[in-house]
Amino acid sequence: MAQVLSKIPIFEDKNLLVGLGKADDAAVYRVQDNLCVVQTLDFFTPIVDDPYTFGQVAAANALSDVYAMGGRPILALNIVGFPSNLSPDILSEILKGGADKVKEAKAVLAGGHSIEDDEPKYGMSVMGFVDCDKILTNSGAKEGDIILLSKPLGSGIINTALKGDMAGEKSYKAVVEVMIKLNDKASEAALEMHANACTDVTGFGLFGHAAEMAENSDVTIEFEMKRIPVIEGAMIYASMGLIPGGAYKNRSFYKDKIKDNGYFDQIISDICFDPQTSGGLLMSIPEASADILDRYPELVIIGRVKESKGYRIELL
Ligand code: CO
Ligand code: CO
Ligand code: CO
Repeated sequence: MAQVLSKIPIFEDKNLLVGLGKADDAAVYRVQDNLCVVQTLDFFTPIVDDPYTFGQVAAANALSDVYAMGGRPILALNIVGFPSNLSPDILSEILKGGADKVKEAKAVLAGGHSIEDDEPKYGMSVMGFVDCDKILTNSGAKEGDIILLSKPLGSGIINTALKGDMAGEKSYKAVVEVMIKLNDKASEAALEMHANACTDVTGFGLFGHAAEMAENSDVTIEFEMKRIPVIEGAMIYASMGLIPGGAYKNRSFYKDKIKDNGYFDQIISDICFDPQTSGGLLMSIPEASADILDRYPELVIIGRVKESKGYRIELL
């Protein structure tokens, strides 16, 4: 992807505050002194069989990139690809799932566009507002910060197990609950705690997104591996080898940036390289803000920011 993007001309605009380039979650554009718009787009093929649930997951995932930038979702548009030989009832269910999530996010769904496609695809483009002084990006993590994560990991592994009919109802419920959860509260927490950096954990897995954050901030992030939250069942499926291809890609791409201290031989490393669908927010907050952490029980402390040691991540 990076090679493809490098051939696109760079657009310069003094009001474009976040654009292509640093693997951030969305574009940010200043429209007035203090008012910035966040614009994002995300869609994918079904990851669960139930159409309504798929709609919810796709919408939560698209909305997440606005939350990751510290924004408030305002307007959403549907992006739909759908085969003509499938029942339109399925599409209605997908769209209803998406619409219900937009409603939950207190944003407005204002239309969209659909095309005929061999395989269903669904997602959204979401526009949000953010105070220009409070934009959260994946650079800016500071030495001494605490690293927090708002959702447990392992959705890629559990979805792989579900596809192979290797996972039961309990794991299905657990992973769906994680994937349909909005990152609204986590974003609120990040703003309230004056996060120095923030991103959502998606395709690159925890280690990939953390490595980007550390690189853009020129720091080293230390993870306390015992504290990494994992969705119930994911460790078992990972130990059975039910690991998505993306996790291996992430491992080979990011491994040289990580001092693993032996953890690469353990199952927990598969969890941390696992690509997430609609994952949680990863944030770097000043230590002093940790006082109010008890008000956000879903946020888990998983690491600390140290001065750059030459590698981007150390596992302890
Ligand atoms: Co993102
Ligand atoms: Co995205
Ligand atoms: Co159109």
